[in-house]
Amino acid sequence: MTLANKKILLGICGGIAAYKSADLVRKLKEQGADVRVVMSQSAKEFITPLTLQALSGYPVAESLLDPTAEAAMGHIELARWADLVIIAPATANFIARLRAGMADELITTLCVATESSIAICPAMNQQMYQYPATKENIAVLAQRGHQMWGPDSGSQACGEIGPGRMLEPLDIVARAQDFLAGDEQKPLKGKKLMLTAGPTREAIDPVRYISNHSSGKMGFALAEAAVKLGAEVTLVSGPVNLPTPTSVTRIDVISAEDMLQRVLNDIESQDIFIGCAAVADYKIEQIAKEKIKKNDENMQLALTRNPDILATVAKRNNKPFTVGFAAETNNLVEYARSKLERKNLDMIAANDVSVAGQGFNADDNALHVFWSEGSQHLPTTNKKALAKQLLLLIAERMNK
Ligand code: C5P
Repeated sequence: MTLANKKILLGICGGIAAYKSADLVRKLKEQGADVRVVMSQSAKEFITPLTLQALSGYPVAESLLDPTAEAAMGHIELARWADLVIIAPATANFIARLRAGMADELITTLCVATESSIAICPAMNQQMYQYPATKENIAVLAQRGHQMWGPDSGSQACGEIGPGRMLEPLDIVARAQDFLAGDEQKPLKGKKLMLTAGPTREAIDPVRYISNHSSGKMGFALAEAAVKLGAEVTLVSGPVNLPTPTSVTRIDVISAEDMLQRVLNDIESQDIFIGCAAVADYKIEQIAKEKIKKNDENMQLALTRNPDILATVAKRNNKPFTVGFAAETNNLVEYARSKLERKNLDMIAANDVSVAGQGFNADDNALHVFWSEGSQHLPTTNKKALAKQLLLLIAERMNK
């Protein structure tokens, strides 16, 4: 009963996935949650309030100006009652209205009036999901700190295939359990964590650059896991093709110099810094102003060292708990330990990139983690699970 004593307000919008919301009420209640349901006017075209009343055990709140409800549990009380508001399904129309702060019916008013967290489970046709305004609305709501759970990709009720399926009820329950987990499961609560991720690009001329194959997956997995463990996360990312994890402040940069500047701008207030980016070691000494012509058979590029972002952070007085990564192909233990000392780090996570399917661009990884008095091996698993293990280790060590 992982949701025992949790009060969940479930808002249902008018989409075909609303039929799954009945099952969601049951699954939430099975975990001990107290569930009250609010329906938009159009939701009632898809599923009856009676069904939801029977499953939740409460009358369904439907209208904003309902004299009987206002006398008992009116919209402000309902907004205050909830530990968590889940909107499932959340239609494109609802998402647009919430982004604009509209309070035009009960379901939107509750979201505007509540101090509780709001989890939005989008469900719509894939074209509607990919419409620029919808994407922008979702990004803005996520940036405001609302939880964005899903959507899934796959076959849709309209016969099309693509992103826009509502998460399955069991997945939504799992997200709610994760989100409402007690403070003992949020060891980074109140901590500010900054991390770098992805590659950097070092310009040669206006159209060319030097870079590397870093996908950013490990850094993005760390950012997502850190939010779940309660941290306030700033992710300074080089050019990658990954969506921003919910509730993460993302700063996009191109070159190592950009990355250093953006890190230093906000490092003062950070409790933890993780250098996960594959920063280019060298940059072009003199970036050509015009596109370089291929006039010669051979050409040479003069390179100069980039600043070491991690070492710069670790040199500061009052430095945050500073963690580096090391990708090695041999002598892993020796190189990692010497890097720990040389860069003045609190911890270093080393991975053996000579092992196939691990490290750069892969979904799985294994890490050897070292600190001055000890070490721990985190065996091969997916980067998301590994991210959580590494962060738990950081939380444990920084309190020693
Ligand atoms: O020295 P090496 O490149 O192996 O160190 C890797 C670690 O240092 C990583 O954590 C990486 O993010 C960080 N780094 C950095 N700035 C650089 C080079 C590496 O922050 N210019």
